[in-house]
Amino acid sequence: QKLYVGIDLGGTSVKVGLCDRLGKLLAVYEGPTEAEKRAEGVLQNIELYVRELVGREGCDWEQIAGIGAGIPGFLDMETGVVKASPNLGWKDVPVKAILEERLGKEVRIDNDANVAALGEVWSGAAAGIPNAVCYTLGTGVGGGIIIKNVLCQGYSGMGGEIGHLGVVPAEEAITCGCGQKGCLETVSSATGIIYMAKEAVIRGEQTSLAHIRELTAKDVLDAAKAGDQVAARIVDRAADYLGKSMALLSVVVNPQRFVIGGGVAKAGSFLLDQIDHHFRKYALENAKTNVDIVPAILGNNAGVVGAAGLHVFG
Ligand code: BGC
Ligand code: NA
Ligand code: ZN
Repeated sequence: QKLYVGIDLGGTSVKVGLCDRLGKLLAVYEGPTEAEKRAEGVLQNIELYVRELVGREGCDWEQIAGIGAGIPGFLDMETGVVKASPNLGWKDVPVKAILEERLGKEVRIDNDANVAALGEVWSGAAAGIPNAVCYTLGTGVGGGIIIKNVLCQGYSGMGGEIGHLGVVPAEEAITCGCGQKGCLETVSSATGIIYMAKEAVIRGEQTSLAHIRELTAKDVLDAAKAGDQVAARIVDRAADYLGKSMALLSVVVNPQRFVIGGGVAKAGSFLLDQIDHHFRKYALENAKTNVDIVPAILGNNAGVVGAAGLHVFG
């Protein structure tokens, strides 16, 4: 049978997976990205991981019908060039060409959150839902917009860059990795949540977070769950802006479902309920009727599954 390899490139690790034609994930392998995230080293690691995965599964290299990769940042999907990646620090890297040279197979690339959305539509939380918007809450805030079963890449690949919706008012806005101010990502990503928590600690606010070294977003979410008022306010702010962004998107693309994935989303219904509350507060009545907000099903595997799917859908 024909098999497809999906690559999910993240800031700290790279996951590679093997899928069949129906989106069933047969095996995964994960390794570190590369300490300095330099493109050359990272792409070399990717080649190693893919060969390791295929070798371990004992499948014939000839069976691999296509390789896909999800990459965080702004891409030209057609030429396969990563134009800019705020979170990897890359600029103008011809990823498709380099990987094709290394692996000797056709490689398709797309944005990391776009492929995660494809994964959820193929065999996850949005299966059978032709109009869905998927969020990936991690180091950044990623988005994938699917309308009538087609992924919205837009004119130059910037379609679905939800994390850079300018939702924070100027007087409270801070600078985003993209260079703009007030992006959703500055408040609702793991990075944003950690930033707000550190600021609160520096201001001397009364919070259990003050005693934690190497603060993570999970620490903030756990503290909020446990009743820490400062942490709760930070999480509420993150959820409020997410809800607001969904209200905005609901009058632009009118999805039937919002899927929330990524590391931050592991906080589960605690976070989802708050996002839902704020979404309903902001959204236009007709645009929120019968719309639901659900957790991603494939979780951390959405990226590899969707990336493998680039050859099946595209
Ligand atoms: C990038 C997106 C990416 C997201 C999640 C954002 O900073 O602009 O392209 O999908 O982070 O990694
Ligand atoms: Na995207
Ligand atoms: Zn931004």
